[in-house]
Amino acid sequence: MFNKKKKENPGFSTRAIHVGQQPDPETGAVSAPIYPTSTYVQQGIGEHKGYEYSRVSNPTRTRVEENLAALEGGIGARVFSSGMAAINAITTMLQAGDHVVCGNDLYGGVPRLFNQVLSTFGLEFTYVDTTDARSVERAIEKNTRMVYVETPTNPLMSITDVATVSRICRKRKVDLVVDNTFMSPYFQQPLALGADLVVHSTTKFLNGHSDGLGGVVICTREDQMEKLAFIQKAAGAILSPFECWLILRGVKTLAVRMEQHDRNGRKIADFLARHKRIPKVFYPGLPDHPQHELAQQQMSGFGSMITFETGSLSNAKKMLKRVRVCSLGESLGGVETLISHPATMTHAALGEKGRRAIGITDGMVRISVGIEDVKDIIDDLDQALAAI
Ligand SMILES: Cc1ncc(COP(=O)(O)O)c(C=O)c1O
Repeated sequence: MFNKKKKENPGFSTRAIHVGQQPDPETGAVSAPIYPTSTYVQQGIGEHKGYEYSRVSNPTRTRVEENLAALEGGIGARVFSSGMAAINAITTMLQAGDHVVCGNDLYGGVPRLFNQVLSTFGLEFTYVDTTDARSVERAIEKNTRMVYVETPTNPLMSITDVATVSRICRKRKVDLVVDNTFMSPYFQQPLALGADLVVHSTTKFLNGHSDGLGGVVICTREDQMEKLAFIQKAAGAILSPFECWLILRGVKTLAVRMEQHDRNGRKIADFLARHKRIPKVFYPGLPDHPQHELAQQQMSGFGSMITFETGSLSNAKKMLKRVRVCSLGESLGGVETLISHPATMTHAALGEKGRRAIGITDGMVRISVGIEDVKDIIDDLDQALAAI
């Protein structure tokens, strides 16, 4: 749609609203058509319009892949049926005997996939504190092919220096994969900082309305694009045309939503940090966050993911029972404020020992601040915290 040769360089929201979002050529419909078709009529043997079967490709999927690649600054993207399906697809670039260095504070479903499924096929995983770039370098072995990080992490909100880790990876010929789900491409662009692949659970901020699951991998090289297209076709965990469309609809407002998430996030973090019953708040926008300065350099906002300590499981239970505007539930990144308990929900799969090892306590509560009126969220948290 935009002419790269003419050096057209549209801004973020213009890309979000226009790349892959061109009007339907047949009718002029301004919203992208959803193609709910399994197959495509061919004009003769080997003669078709670029589409043969919807596991392989679908026009609505093509549109969302173009759009998300343009937002992250990649050469292309492949979407999958969930964030976990996208992460699993990335690991099919590896072979038995290969080694991956991973962050030690990841969404709980990721170590579950790595340790309980993929390690039985001969892949090896080592977990390190990636906030310390030297510990990443030390963990790289002869058979290491990939470094896998989330930044900020889930739920401890620690920040990895993507530019420094990517330099280490380049030197050792290892691919760096960054899960950018928490920040979205609006606040953080890992490929520009040197990452080789970006992955998202589109279920979160990219969709933004808590009405569809999905995952995407954004690529920097043709070999990655080809391999992932092959995995879409061979393994079949592709995203349905309707859910592709939900993302196309969602990203149109990504910038304005993220601005409001960020504004609300900062205010809620301040409120929690000043609350007398909350001993600790984990939010990169707070000056006492250990990587506050790095967060300012590598992100253009702090977002709306906040974790805080209530002191005990019983305190967490009492407050979560009383919330009214905030909804108790897993997931994040929707317009509504979602509040959750990592130890029994998103990070239950780590087990008590695994959680203790990285500092996830039973009293921790994670909040994905939505875009409601912030006063109502604060009033709600205030009355719920009165229970502890
Ligand atoms: C940071 C992060 N990455 C990946 C996932 C997995 O995504 P999905 O639930 O879409 O499979 C999640 C899910 O919560 C997540 O929080």
